[in-house]
Amino acid sequence: YYIQPFDSFFILLLDFCTSLGHSYPGKPKIIRCHSLEKETFSCWWKPGSDGGLPTNYTLFYSKDSEEKIYECPDYETSGPNSCYFDRNHTNAWTTYNITVTAINEIGSNSSDPQYVDVASIVQPDAPVNLTLETKTSASITNLWAKWSPPPIADVRSNSHVYHYELRLKTEGMEEWETISVGVQTQYKVIRVQPGVKYVVQVRCMLDLGKWSEWSSERHIQISRGQSPPEKPTIIKCRSPEKETFTCWWKPASNGGYPITHTLLYSKEGTWFCPSDIFWNSTKVEIRSLYNTDCLERCHGTSNSIIACALLLATQPPK
Ligand SMILES: *[C@@H]1O[C@H](CO)[C@@H](O)[C@H](O)[C@H]1NC(C)=O
Ligand SMILES: *[C@@H]1O[C@H](CO)[C@@H](O)[C@H](O)[C@H]1NC(C)=O
Ligand SMILES: *[C@@H]1O[C@H](CO)[C@@H](O)[C@H](O)[C@H]1NC(C)=O
Ligand SMILES: *[C@@H]1O[C@H](CO)[C@@H](O)[C@H](O)[C@H]1NC(C)=O
Ligand SMILES: *[C@@H]1O[C@H](CO)[C@@H](O)[C@H](O)[C@H]1NC(C)=O
Ligand SMILES: *[C@@H]1O[C@H](CO)[C@@H](O)[C@H](O)[C@H]1NC(C)=O
Repeated sequence: YYIQPFDSFFILLLDFCTSLGHSYPGKPKIIRCHSLEKETFSCWWKPGSDGGLPTNYTLFYSKDSEEKIYECPDYETSGPNSCYFDRNHTNAWTTYNITVTAINEIGSNSSDPQYVDVASIVQPDAPVNLTLETKTSASITNLWAKWSPPPIADVRSNSHVYHYELRLKTEGMEEWETISVGVQTQYKVIRVQPGVKYVVQVRCMLDLGKWSEWSSERHIQISRGQSPPEKPTIIKCRSPEKETFTCWWKPASNGGYPITHTLLYSKEGTWFCPSDIFWNSTKVEIRSLYNTDCLERCHGTSNSIIACALLLATQPPK
């Protein structure tokens, strides 16, 4: 083998560099590829040793059996040592062959190729805003859980249908009970135990991807032995002189707990809260209803047990 002067120059340079502790860069390794919503994805790599020299990293990819090689469209968005594939560079039904090449002055070194099928690397963020509430009727307490899908930076992608799982356990216990919820963002856990404290979490999944992490925990104490009051009944209303009128009702049975009775009425479509009631108003027809929404019109959401009567507008009491 005849050494060309040109070659020998490089061999000398290489020897020189090696003697300074400089060398080819180590082999980079693709550590993770991940999509939050199947419409974009990112890959991250771990650099190898830098060979003591400034090293540049380049990500190349090809798609399915195409020969064409592309370079990473965006090295910035997903942070250092990453490549972000925006919507225009993401095709869920394509296998990507991805390689990262490290280059320094002496030479280059490439990672093993990573084959990425976008649909299988989808892992959404956990659902957010989980809230718990109990509702009791006919002395059976049910637990309602509600949540929102994970927020996504690119709102155009936020039309996805997630599948959810909910899990709950008694506080302090190890074992979770996991329930497949389907695509709803709420779930009713029937017949929870009074007096018990529950812990609840939810998670979500998109198509064939991976489950998200579990959401943050929510705790709720199911109150003991509370039951809603019975429906109160308005017995009669009377207007002796057509200037004022009075209504009487039969109080609800209270099961040992204090009950507030609130009488609401509307007149010509406008709602009146207790403090607004002027009994000099005329023309009301009274019906009794059991309606837990009626107090909320006045006081916002109330967790207390509510019994109320509703008066609906229109005709003068007899
Ligand atoms: C590439 O990196 C690997 C592992 O870091 C190393 O063993 C190998 O020598 C490097 N290749 C070259 C051509 O230097
Ligand atoms: C994607 O491509 C469309 C049409 O070619 C273009 O209008 C849009 O700006 C591109 N979006 C991104 C994020 O590059
Ligand atoms: C993937 O890409 C690498 C680097 O371009 C190439 O060596 C390898 O043959 C490709 N694999 C397939 C299955 O095409
Ligand atoms: C690394 O990239 C910078 C900026 O593109 C370039 O100036 C430099 O020559 C590159 N270094 C190597 C070793 O390729
Ligand atoms: C979650 O709750 C916060 C605070 O109430 C609200 O700002 C945010 O919009 C909610 N997020 C979703 C996705 O509903
Ligand atoms: C009804 O009573 C209220 C408060 O006492 C008073 O302000 C209002 O003018 C009365 N309305 C009528 C129609 O008499």
